[in-house]
This record gives sequence, C-alpha cells and structure tokens, in this order.
Amino acid sequence: MKMPPAGLARVCQAARDLIAFRRLNLDADWPFHGRFDAIMCRNVAIYFDEQTQTRLWRRFADRLQTAGVLYIGHSEALPKELVTRFDQDAAGAFRVVDGRSEPARRSGISTEKTDESEGQNSHSCG
Ligand SMILES: C[S@@+](CC[C@H](N)C(=O)[O-])C[C@H]1O[C@@H](n2cnc3c(N)ncnc32)[C@H](O)[C@@H]1O
Repeated sequence: MKMPPAGLARVCQAARDLIAFRRLNLDADWPFHGRFDAIMCRNVAIYFDEQTQTRLWRRFADRLQTAGVLYIGHSEALPKELVTRFDQDAAGAFRVVDGRSEPARRSGISTEKTDESEGQNSHSCG
C-alpha cells in the first residue's frame, strides 16, 4: 500500500467503506433512517435564527439513540425547552436521555452502498 505523506495517516479501506460523504442541507429533509450514536455539528447553528436553531437541536435529539451524544460549538447553546432531553457530559457535549434504542437497524444515509453495510459493526484493518 502507498504510504501517506509524513504527518498524515491513511484510513484503511474497511473503515472508509463505513463512511458516506454527502451534501446535506440541515434545514431541509434529511435522507437518514435510524438513529445515530453521535452527531457532531459545531459552529453551524449559530448562523441560523433562534427558531431554526431550536428546530435543528430538536431534530438532532430525535435522531440520537438513548445515551447518544450531540457535540456542538462552544459558543452554541441548547434552548431551555430542550435541556431536559439531555445530560451535559462536558463543554459542548450533550447526552440524550430520552432517545430510543434501535439496535436492529443502524443509522445511515439511504444509499445502496450504506444499506448493504447495515448490520456490520466490526471491521478489521489489515
Ligand atoms: C463556521 S463554518 C463551521 C465549520 C466546521 N463545523 C467547524 O467547526 O470548523 C459553518 C459551516 O456551516 C455550513 N452551513 C451553513 N448553512 C448550512 C445548512 N443549511 N446546512 C448545512 N451546512 C450549512 C457552511 O457551509 C459552513 O461550512
């Protein structure tokens, strides 16, 4: 395998196959199914008006598994109406307390490639 340039790392194909890169408008319909273990969305919501931010945080809460974590920017904050849905783990890290577990169906983006990898949760990199 070709070595990466100094200071960089190359991710093995098995791990890369688990990742889907897509454009997503956070303020439109989402092509997701299932729930996520973690969502990282930092320094994006601050550009939305208050109503749009609240809708986004609520949608994230609905898309996390129980105990799933939402990571937001240090200058971002969850509105009062949503704080009961999360426990704060650390600065900018909020753990969902009222999500549902859906172990039989992993989260993902609805594409043929992602659907084929459903159910796979352990991979080795050679
Ligand atoms: C300040 S940058 C933050 C980038 C990165 N998350 C970080 O913390 O370095 C804000 C990003 O929000 C993205 N953005 C703005 N509106 C968006 C939307 N409706 N849906 C998805 N991304 C959006 C922009 O494209 C931009 O990349």
